[in-house]
Amino acid sequence: ETATSSRKREHLQICCEQPVEAGDAGFQDVRLVHNALPECDMDAIETKTRFLGATLDSPLFIAAMTGGHPDTLEVNQRLARAAERYNLGMGVGSQRAALEKPELEGSFTIVREEAPHAFLCANLGIIQLRDHGIEWAERAVEMIDAQAIAIHVNSLQEAIQPEGDHNAEGCIEALRNLCREFSYPVIVKETGSGISAGTARVIRGAGASAIDIGGYGGTSWAKIERLRASGPELADLGDAFLSWGIPTVVSLHEVRTAGGPIIATGGLRSGIDIAKAVALGADLGGMALPLLKPAMESDDALSLAIEAMHRELRVAMFLTGSRSIADLRHARTYITGLTRQMIENSE
Ligand code: FNR
Repeated sequence: ETATSSRKREHLQICCEQPVEAGDAGFQDVRLVHNALPECDMDAIETKTRFLGATLDSPLFIAAMTGGHPDTLEVNQRLARAAERYNLGMGVGSQRAALEKPELEGSFTIVREEAPHAFLCANLGIIQLRDHGIEWAERAVEMIDAQAIAIHVNSLQEAIQPEGDHNAEGCIEALRNLCREFSYPVIVKETGSGISAGTARVIRGAGASAIDIGGYGGTSWAKIERLRASGPELADLGDAFLSWGIPTVVSLHEVRTAGGPIIATGGLRSGIDIAKAVALGADLGGMALPLLKPAMESDDALSLAIEAMHRELRVAMFLTGSRSIADLRHARTYITGLTRQMIENSE
């Protein structure tokens, strides 16, 4: 068992057993404007949407979580079955462990076996991309026969985890090289601290096809690493950064200015949040933690969770008079409170 691999198992355990969320993504400050005369048939509402050339049955995206340790196989298997059953897009967790040690590929390859038709996203950290180049990106995509690759950025986590990489130099050039030479779409993804307008422009300028916000207000790596911290120094450091990051709603507002497809992830906790994210400019709404817990339990628990999200999304679409996701994109919102203040200060 490698260090990378055992960390994967530890993360799942912590996320299921302890409180790992921090802050506010801003969705409570957003209201969709109610339409008292929607003039549409709720049961005929179409939630299908397109993303990077694929047609998905709904904008709910199963965000990158796991793989890389034998104990994570079952969770990935259930998530993949759900992706296939509901025709949802799905990201796998970082494939680093399996790229370092091919014996660990099984917990990733199971995803394509269970979801032969789903839109799948490979996943690699930008540090690994910089250090190993395009070859690792190619192997990651091939491992699960993915349609796209997400390159995750997680400077906060790197800064506060004991085994973290503190040197982020050379990452933008590595990204530019990948986008130029790779034959699959590249998505740049944060993991809980959000992306600003300026960073979004750098990402788009490097040639990336899409951005996954990974905003603040949902699962917190400061909190997870704080719970894993072996000594008081890193624990205090984790504590100090518990409220660091750009809330998802604010980040969404910033990233839209750079153009291009967007996945909003970070603190989405209901189908209404997905509807809000789409109305605010996202193409897809990604969820990690809310799907992880039922996926650890059973296929049925996961199906129930997904169907509840879909019911909420459909009712929110009905009550905004949105017959399609294209209509929902034009739904009006009221934005209040801290979120409004931050948006007023954004680019
Ligand atoms: C994650 N996330 C993540 N992201 C990524 O790009 N690569 C990864 O390997 C992981 N691993 C991972 C493990 C676990 C257990 C969780 C809960 C999350 C981040 C995830 O995709 C998402 O961006 C954030 O969790 C925010 O969404 P939620 O959890 O607030 O819905």
